[in-house]
Amino acid sequence: MRHFLTTRDLTAAQFEALLNRGEEFRQGADSDALSGTHVGLVFFNPSLRTRVSMEVAVSRLGGTPVTLSVGSDAWAMEYRDGVVMDGPAAEHAREGAGVLGRYCDMLGVRSFPEGKDYEVDRREPVLNAFARYSGVPVINLESPLDHPCQAMADALTIREQLGKTTGRRVLLTWAYHPKALPMAVPNSFLLGAARLGVDLVLARPEGYELDVDVVRAAERLAAESGGALTVTDERDAVYEGVEVVYAKSWGALADYGEPEAEFTRRAKLRDWRVTEARMARGRNAIFMHCLPVRRNVVVDDAVLDGRRSVVLDEAENRMYAQQAILEWLASENR
Ligand code: CP
Repeated sequence: MRHFLTTRDLTAAQFEALLNRGEEFRQGADSDALSGTHVGLVFFNPSLRTRVSMEVAVSRLGGTPVTLSVGSDAWAMEYRDGVVMDGPAAEHAREGAGVLGRYCDMLGVRSFPEGKDYEVDRREPVLNAFARYSGVPVINLESPLDHPCQAMADALTIREQLGKTTGRRVLLTWAYHPKALPMAVPNSFLLGAARLGVDLVLARPEGYELDVDVVRAAERLAAESGGALTVTDERDAVYEGVEVVYAKSWGALADYGEPEAEFTRRAKLRDWRVTEARMARGRNAIFMHCLPVRRNVVVDDAVLDGRRSVVLDEAENRMYAQQAILEWLASENR
């Protein structure tokens, strides 16, 4: 069975075909690929864009979305095997996913990391439990390591904005945020942008390294696409000559599971913010962020509201990218 858990599973040709199809959907292409089917959308965590763009994408393909918020309008769910379930969870993923797979033809799952033990989180236990026990194709709607739907929309947006991407300079910069956020978006952005043949720069403070396997995979993909990935802890000079600025905050891997140490580390990093002065060092750079974003914390109003901000186009592209992913998954599993 074919799932969509990470863009890492895609060949270069499949990635390219999905982007091309996403562009066709943006230009108004029609498809009834999900006619007569139901797609369950299971959220263990909050969402605005993912939830609504998936519901609309499923409907546009002729399918019916069924959305559940686990722990509020659906039972809290356990995923670990062998545990004594005397806590808040009333249901195990073995049954929960299995039952949903009997009702639905495809499932989307959002499950953030617990943030206690990186070795546990990086195994993506909830997402993998759904892939194992549901018996139907599963789409990752953001897991501890990956947000592949966001990655496809981001790549679509860069192509939409720049046209030919080979050799263009793209910056992914860490940004301050009051909370330690998951790493799924920066990981996914690296893995997606690395396929575009761009000169990709990852700028993050010391301690905020991304998963070494993800960085190695991005380096390999960048080399294969004719681009390159550079990693630096430089905050300002990295804006020089860039054409895309992608800002995102994430928690320090060095302090994973130690919130007080992480808080102390990030408290000194408030000036990692996207400002007009920094953007001005770029080459008419566009500003991207997956949203939601904290104004004047991650990015200044002047940048976010400026003419080079493409955050709404980026969010809109979620719909088209997901139409392409859903259509492809339906055909692969027919
Ligand atoms: N970018 C994104 O995934 O947004 P939501 O968390 O609102 O779904």
